[in-house]
Amino acid sequence: MSVNVTREFINGLPKAELHVHIEGTLEPDLKLKLAQKNQIDIGQKTIEEVRASYQFDDLASFLAVYYPAMNVLQTEDDFYELAMAYLRRASENNVRHAEIFFDPQAHTSRGISFATVINGLYRATVDARALNVDARLIMCFLRDYSRDSARKTLLESSAFRDKFIGVGLDSDEHNNPPMKFFNQFTQASADGLHVTAHADIDQKDSIEHIRELLEVIGSERIDHGTNVVEDPDLIEFAAKNKIGFTSCPLSNSFVSPEMKGKEVLELLDNGVKVSIHSDDPAYFGGYISDNYYALAKNFNFSQEQVVTLAKNSFETSWISKEQKALYLKEIDDYVNQFNA
Ligand code: ADE
Ligand code: ZN
Repeated sequence: MSVNVTREFINGLPKAELHVHIEGTLEPDLKLKLAQKNQIDIGQKTIEEVRASYQFDDLASFLAVYYPAMNVLQTEDDFYELAMAYLRRASENNVRHAEIFFDPQAHTSRGISFATVINGLYRATVDARALNVDARLIMCFLRDYSRDSARKTLLESSAFRDKFIGVGLDSDEHNNPPMKFFNQFTQASADGLHVTAHADIDQKDSIEHIRELLEVIGSERIDHGTNVVEDPDLIEFAAKNKIGFTSCPLSNSFVSPEMKGKEVLELLDNGVKVSIHSDDPAYFGGYISDNYYALAKNFNFSQEQVVTLAKNSFETSWISKEQKALYLKEIDDYVNQFNA
């Protein structure tokens, strides 16, 4: 790692967070507090016990711990508090713009209304302006739920159309290809919503899923997606079309021996707009600056490479050209001042 890539440099660098699941920011202390308030037995009583329950080594075992914890989220204020806690962390990490995933079906399926979820989260995004964070929401479909459930969710979301800017796809990828939701993506896109989707690392059909997203569905970004390095034609397509790849090193390190650092370097070398994010920071041990630092340190990134990752995050975000230019200038000013 070059001498200029310190923790301090990374933390101060203006960043866009494009891959964070709000439910994955539920820290053990808030989980326990809400469990007590809402009288929900989560099986653990201390922060140490909660942390000890975080045993996972693949996507399925992670999701088996992740979804039951969401039971503690019951009221609109609970969702507000969850999102505000994240947005305070984001502000401390100099996240200037955040596009945040939420999973309505993980809540409506247990009797919490769509309105309760989105109204609490949205209120936090408005209040985050005071923290200098411009926050937006992305509604994800759970890919291991039925197509009909996604259809109903999209229909239900139309009453809240002004509260989110795009749709995504997450949860268990095994035998759940993007094409399962072709109609929902097409409809969302026709409604003016942006489109992204997970292609988790090293899945059974990673390359096929990435191909569907790029060539058929027209996804603007791919969440994770670093397996694209296996296919030179898709790399070329992604570079030419400025597709964003949102890589999450600490999350990757739980499910693969490396954090996909070599793949990130290869994508940078090929001019692909890869960027660095935090996925589920309360579960994977770090927020966005920790993710940048872990990657830069373990794979000896130069300052220039780190700056390119941050610039890519704004360039592939869903903001206007004018806003992008302002943030890119903010980065240049920061780097010049830091190096002076
Ligand atoms: N939900 C939360 N984190 C996820 C991930 N990394 N992949 C798929 N679904 C998720
Ligand atoms: Zn994710």
